Amino acid sequence: MNSPVFVKSDHEAYAVFVTKLGGPEVLKPAPIKIPDALDHHIVIEHTAVAVNFVDVYLRAGQKHSHNPEPPFITGVSAVGKVLKMGKGVEGFKVGDRVTYTNSGVGTYCTHVCVKEDRIVHVPDDVSDERAAAGFVRALTAQYLLKQMRTLHPGDRILVHAAAGGVGQILVQWALRLGLKIIATVGSDEKIPLVKSLGIEHVINYSKDDFAEQVKLITSGQGVKVVYESVGKDTFTRSLACLEPKGLLVNYGTSSGQVEGFALQDLHANSLWICRPTLKTYVAKRTDLLLMAKEAFEILGDPKIKLAIEAVLPLTQAAKSHEMLESRSTRGAIVLIP
Ligand SMILES: NC(=O)c1ccc[n+]([C@@H]2O[C@H](COP(=O)([O-])OP(=O)(O)OC[C@H]3O[C@@H](n4cnc5c(N)ncnc54)[C@H](OP(=O)(O)O)[C@@H]3O)[C@@H](O)[C@H]2O)c1
Repeated sequence: MNSPVFVKSDHEAYAVFVTKLGGPEVLKPAPIKIPDALDHHIVIEHTAVAVNFVDVYLRAGQKHSHNPEPPFITGVSAVGKVLKMGKGVEGFKVGDRVTYTNSGVGTYCTHVCVKEDRIVHVPDDVSDERAAAGFVRALTAQYLLKQMRTLHPGDRILVHAAAGGVGQILVQWALRLGLKIIATVGSDEKIPLVKSLGIEHVINYSKDDFAEQVKLITSGQGVKVVYESVGKDTFTRSLACLEPKGLLVNYGTSSGQVEGFALQDLHANSLWICRPTLKTYVAKRTDLLLMAKEAFEILGDPKIKLAIEAVLPLTQAAKSHEMLESRSTRGAIVLIP
């Protein structure tokens, strides 16, 4: 596991391990055995591995819904082909293009054995790279927009980090629902990308007080929902953006965990707050299938843009984490085994 001289062609199967909690440098490739197919499980040969921000939390040891002990394989989603099937598997055949998430196995590897009820087919009109870049993000956008609060055309929302992977899908899907969107980004360079998605109001929250800007744009009324994935740096000011009875959804902590929150801060305007995770929303297979259908309708539509910032060899997983943490990415990164 500590071998820095791993050469991909030496091994049929390999994984990138988090050798200890820490920076991107703790990610190291090492050979693995192709797993056997357990009953009701499928062995998948990966063709494209997703890089999601949660992979960074797990590698760094930031408190999450689950925190594996090193050494472990990080990652929560990947795309591949069915290689082998265990007894009792139904609805799949060898060679099928499939994806999965929240299956309990790490995904930065060439081969995995995944329980059949976590796996869905990838439609023909979605490439492996786009599915890897978008599956978790579109599922997330689905529950954020459709399962947290009833939204009607004309309702106003604020979306933080809109140039990011989730952010891009979220704002485009919200536009389709007829919502009025205000978006934030961390640098002026990211503004044109978000505007090109059809968003008129884009605030650089590194430079401007976004709560003041939201007040100006909404004539003091505020927004119905804030989709807040940045955490520490934006949480408190996000509360100030809400209309009375508005909802703050803190679904990520890219800048760090929220600290010092007082419940009483919700009182004056009867505000709501929620800290959801996709894991809960896809826990039942029936929900996963319904959400995946909608997610793939979005990803299968060529009008929905999802920028892929970089496609890197899986052996360079550490570089992908450096890029994500440097805030330089506009869209997704995909790793190819
Ligand atoms: N709860 C769930 O179910 C769920 C599911 C999927 C994803 N998520 C969350 O959604 C968010 C977006 O995920 P993603 O994978 O698509 O990532 P991403 O948005 O592509 O990247 C994260 C973005 O966060 C912003 N950011 C602000 N402060 C940062 C900091 N100190 N360090 C790094 N980035 C910072 C950056 O955009 P700016 O430079 O524009 O600020 C960065 O590009 C993440 O917080 C993730 O954990 C949650």
